[in-house]
Amino acid sequence: MSRSGFVARFALPAALVFLAAAPLSGQPSDDDCLVCHGDSGLKGGQGQSLFVDGAKSAASIHGSAGISCVDCHSDLAKVSDFPHAGKLKPVACASCHEAAAAAVGQSAHGSAHSGPKPFAVLCKDCHGTHEIRASADASSRTFSLNIPETCTACHLSRVPNARGPGFVGQYLQSVHFRALSKAGLNSAATCVSCHGGHDVRLVDDSRSKVARPNIISTCGACHAGIERDYLEGVHGKAYVKGSRDVPVCTDCHAEHDIRSPADLGSIVYATKVAAVCSRCHDDESLARQYGLLTSRLKTYAASYHGMASKSGETRVANCASCHGHHDIRPSNDPRSSVNPANLAATCGTCHAGAGVNFSKGRIHVVSERTENRWAYTVKIVYLVVIGGLISVFLAFIAADLYRRLRGRWTR
Ligand code: HEC
Ligand code: HEC
Ligand code: HEC
Ligand code: HEC
Ligand code: HEC
Ligand code: HEC
Ligand code: HEC
Ligand code: HEC
Ligand code: HEC
Ligand code: HEC
Ligand code: HEC
Repeated sequence: MSRSGFVARFALPAALVFLAAAPLSGQPSDDDCLVCHGDSGLKGGQGQSLFVDGAKSAASIHGSAGISCVDCHSDLAKVSDFPHAGKLKPVACASCHEAAAAAVGQSAHGSAHSGPKPFAVLCKDCHGTHEIRASADASSRTFSLNIPETCTACHLSRVPNARGPGFVGQYLQSVHFRALSKAGLNSAATCVSCHGGHDVRLVDDSRSKVARPNIISTCGACHAGIERDYLEGVHGKAYVKGSRDVPVCTDCHAEHDIRSPADLGSIVYATKVAAVCSRCHDDESLARQYGLLTSRLKTYAASYHGMASKSGETRVANCASCHGHHDIRPSNDPRSSVNPANLAATCGTCHAGAGVNFSKGRIHVVSERTENRWAYTVKIVYLVVIGGLISVFLAFIAADLYRRLRGRWTR
């Protein structure tokens, strides 16, 4: 539509309506604006729609709180000539929401955080503009069930990902997203439960909710019983003391791709548990540092359980069946499931009627020097003696043969 066509179609009638409806002094009312902006065909210079749905806007949290168009579009508050001049100042949400604006400013999305950002993140990117609702309202973009859509609008591909493309998208396969989207369970974890809303931090910032020192309480906010069990176990006790070497929730369950352990895709699916534990428990330098026994995987793999597990059998014991998973304790702790006093009961969960004798055999049988000095020494002595005997015997035969052959040749 040309400028003059526009004036003929809208500006003149609008101006008339305006003159008729507006009080002589004071601000233009919403109806004044909607005379033009209530037309669904209204377009701006770049062809962008300038339509505002008056009903939606009135039903928004701002509409119902009595906030008018010009409370937000404040440069039009004193204008009485319509159509108004082109470019307007961006709406300053901060003028009424100081605390929210300050928090966002300090976050990974705000300007205060150092480092180059690919683009600015604004209030309207998460909240929208004219249809803003309280977060508890099911139609709000910040309502729990709608959060993944709001955040993935940028984080699936627009924002580069240090952990590789697809890392954030893994959330969409997780048990949490399925619970949210399929079962409508709004108590399942959304992006905001783990990262915060206004206080989102870079993941390597120690204040991030997903930073190592905070991740247990972040998951524990919902999985409270598991947090308690974990903190009572050997890993949790070391975690509280500040150890960076013990596993946290995400080491055993993944960050975004969290699944039910019964799901084949879970990293703690029965046949995969051994790989998760032995990443650390077969690590020589970690073992030396903590005085741990190594060869856990090797000895497990050589056991009946290990071999069956390798071939895909899920009913046999994995590390967690014997040791527990969240409240793992050293075997000398009387409450440990592998303490000699409890072993019969532990084996008994699968081997009905397993008695003390059944469970007596060593599980992690090894003959390596560091683990069993005597077995190792006997093995070495045996090898040396046998080897020596065979060599002496061979030397004797060779010497005898030589003597006989030489006698024949000289003859
Ligand atoms: C007579 C019709 C008319 C009335 C009344 C009117 N506008 Fe507009 N408005 C327009 C037109 C035309 C444009 C496009 C201007 C352009 O692109 O140059 C526009 C553009 C806008 C823009 C976008 C500006 C930008 O930076 O892209 C906003 C926001 C806006 N109007 C808000 C309001 C508000 C708030 C009111 C009521 C106080 C109002 N308008 C009343 C016709 C009107
Ligand atoms: C809660 C604040 C708020 C209120 C109230 C509000 N707007 Fe807006 N409006 C915005 C924001 C934010 C934008 C996006 C542009 C920007 O950031 O300045 C916008 C954009 C617009 C645009 C440009 C087209 C678009 O949709 O992006 C028009 C036209 C407009 N508003 C008209 C109105 C009219 C008419 C009313 C009253 C019925 C109104 N606004 C009430 C915040 C508001
Ligand atoms: C990255 C997305 C995001 C951005 C950007 C964002 N918000 Fe929010 N906002 C949320 C979420 C999510 C909630 C819901 C509360 C929660 O779970 O933390 C929320 C809640 C709110 C609330 C209601 C709760 C409260 O704290 O009083 C207000 C008001 C608010 N935001 C205003 C703003 C303003 C103003 C800006 C811009 C300065 C802004 N938001 C930017 C995501 C965002
Ligand atoms: C003129 C002041 C004003 C401006 C400007 C303003 N708001 Fe509001 N906002 C309010 C008022 C008043 C409420 C209603 C508070 C209430 O009922 O708790 C509100 C409520 C909200 C809520 C819902 C809070 C909740 O309880 O969940 C959000 C979200 C929000 N505003 C975001 C924004 C965003 C984003 C902008 C900028 C586009 C903005 N506001 C601009 C005054 C304003
Ligand atoms: C169950 C908790 C949880 C949920 C839900 C979750 N995240 Fe994460 N997110 C994490 C953890 C843990 C990390 C990795 C932290 C680290 O590397 O130390 C992470 C990392 C990230 C990163 C940084 C990736 C990089 O470049 O290194 C982004 C961006 C991110 N998440 C966005 C999201 C978005 C968007 C959603 C929702 C679609 C979401 N997250 C849902 C826990 C979660
Ligand atoms: C408008 C696009 C946009 C939206 C919407 C958005 N983000 Fe972001 N996000 C960004 C940008 C840009 C960065 C900064 C990346 C940087 O600095 O490297 C960022 C950074 C992050 C980071 C830190 C990543 C890192 O590398 O450590 C997390 C976590 C994050 N956002 C989570 C969220 C969550 C949760 C939501 C939804 C509530 C959300 N984002 C919504 C654009 C967006
Ligand atoms: C050392 C590895 C490890 C750590 C650390 C860990 N988990 Fe687990 N978790 C497991 C294993 C293995 C299973 C599966 C046990 C099974 O198959 O019965 C599991 C099961 C679960 C389950 C399913 C319910 C259940 O108990 O069987 C949830 C929920 C869970 N973990 C959450 C967490 C949370 C939250 C944290 C952090 C506080 C955490 N996990 C820390 C290994 C771990
Ligand atoms: C906002 C609450 C909330 C947070 C935070 C949360 N979860 Fe969950 N989680 C849930 C709910 C609810 C379910 C149950 C979903 C279902 O059963 O469909 C669940 C399910 C799980 C399961 C699958 C349990 C099973 O037996 O199927 C695992 C594993 C899990 N969460 C691990 C974690 C980890 C690890 C973290 C932190 C990185 C975390 N959760 C953070 C609420 C949460
Ligand atoms: C991220 C590395 C890591 C992972 C993964 C891990 N652990 Fe550990 N674990 C440790 C460290 C470090 C210690 C020593 C803590 C201390 O003593 O302070 C330890 C201690 C133990 C102990 C006590 C050992 C002793 O001699 O006192 C047992 C048993 C144990 N872990 C079993 C498991 C099982 C079973 C799994 C898998 C479900 C597992 N761990 C996964 C690092 C790990
Ligand atoms: C069938 C049950 C069973 C399975 C399966 C099992 N363990 Fe054990 N584990 C034990 C018993 C019993 C002990 C204590 C006596 C011993 O050392 O043989 C033990 C000892 C340990 C110890 C030393 C802890 C201490 O306090 O002495 C670690 C570490 C350990 N196991 C890790 C693992 C890992 C990792 C796996 C999986 C690769 C695994 N275990 C599989 C039963 C099991
Ligand atoms: C999670 C279940 C589970 C636990 C716990 C478990 N086992 Fe097993 N175990 C099995 C299954 C299943 C088989 C395979 C076949 C069968 O018993 O019929 C098996 C086989 C065995 C075998 C070889 C086959 C046989 O029956 O002679 C031995 C020996 C054995 N287990 C010892 C133990 C000992 C000792 C413990 C406790 C330290 C233990 N198991 C704990 C499930 C388990």
